[in-house]
Amino acid sequence: MKEPLRIGLIGCGFMGRAHSNAYNRVSNFFDTALAPKLKAVCSRDPGRTQKFADTWGYDSTETDWRSLVDRDDIDAIDICVPNSLHGEITRAAAAAGKMVLCEKPLAMTVAEGELMCRAVEEAGVANMVWYNYRRVPAVTLAKQLIEEGKLGRVFHYRANFLQDWTIAEDLPQGGQALWRLDVAEAGSGVTGDLLAHCVDTALWLNGAIQDVSAMSETFVKQRVHQLTGEVTPVGIDDACAFLCRFDNGSLGVFESTRYARGHKAQYTLEVNGEHASLRWDLHDLHRLEYFSHADEGRLRGWRSIHVTDHDGSQPYMDKWWVPGLQIGYEHTFVHQLADFLEGLSTGVSTVPTFRDALATQKVCDAVLRSARDRAWAFVGE
Ligand SMILES: NC(=O)c1ccc[n+]([C@@H]2O[C@H](COP(=O)([O-])OP(=O)(O)OC[C@H]3O[C@@H](n4cnc5c(N)ncnc54)[C@H](O)[C@@H]3O)[C@@H](O)[C@H]2O)c1
Repeated sequence: MKEPLRIGLIGCGFMGRAHSNAYNRVSNFFDTALAPKLKAVCSRDPGRTQKFADTWGYDSTETDWRSLVDRDDIDAIDICVPNSLHGEITRAAAAAGKMVLCEKPLAMTVAEGELMCRAVEEAGVANMVWYNYRRVPAVTLAKQLIEEGKLGRVFHYRANFLQDWTIAEDLPQGGQALWRLDVAEAGSGVTGDLLAHCVDTALWLNGAIQDVSAMSETFVKQRVHQLTGEVTPVGIDDACAFLCRFDNGSLGVFESTRYARGHKAQYTLEVNGEHASLRWDLHDLHRLEYFSHADEGRLRGWRSIHVTDHDGSQPYMDKWWVPGLQIGYEHTFVHQLADFLEGLSTGVSTVPTFRDALATQKVCDAVLRSARDRAWAFVGE
């Protein structure tokens, strides 16, 4: 019998489902000492929460997250609610001695993120932020190749995250499903929502960012607020692009928008080094494109590695099906959870911790500051 890790999940939306799926599947595929036990789920609507509990197998429900945090039959609180709630729930959960798993972006601001880091660190509780794209096997493989020095000196890092779902001017802002458009709940627009993913991966693959020069735009200036029915100004960035300089001397170019007609969730990244380059595309997530200048001249070219093999070097894939059969988006959460459970057993913190996610928050805050001031901004200023 595995020892249970008793989960209290807050939020029954997109991420609530993705995490619940991971909790249910992880022990079937990964040999971890601890097994998640779905103890309780919380969201505000009792009927919807009960339906969610029935669907995913939670033992009980709550409609006030404070009651959940106070329960003594819960080991870990998982925060899957809009960004404006991450800080308060984290502080309460840490004070109650619970582990905290939090969705990204960590916080609304750097100042709030600092308080959250302090809360979990002073309480000495395990903590992690769900920047799940690190656990796409092809992205993890990219990390391994970079760490082995295959690229040599890195010159360029570029990333895009493109969507098109907010182009309609009559789309309301705020409330259920549309909180991402309301700056009071989201903190920012594409910068915290999409660029934060690109920045997290970039910091992981290519190291710290020193300074940024950004521009952003809000294409639709006012929208009806779903909760009040009133037309109110839109405070989020609809699109944002920035240049940056990394500590290792390489140059970065990042772009994100919800106004790229035809793109639904196109996250792409490319790294160009002295000896080799690599690129990855979320729409083809099981492939890593790789070019090595060391290849024999006649055969030199971009190769497309189908990251599904079991030969021991392709990350995570030996846990799934037979070689050649690919996995998808939901598996990234299973992988991150498996790593977290392993970390609890070994005593090694699983990345990204809250502190790691604070570094991403600092870049995002610098990006927003630079766009506002139309000037270069130092990260961490
Ligand atoms: N890692 C990723 O790739 C990824 C993807 C999507 C969202 N996210 C992050 O996950 C978080 C949630 O996003 P989502 O897409 O799941 O949102 P969602 O709108 O689908 O779900 C939010 C849930 O929170 C609940 N909720 C809101 N206020 C609450 C409160 N006061 N008490 C209890 N429950 C409350 C809602 O009822 C809903 O069930 C956000 O921080 C978002 O940035 C991360």
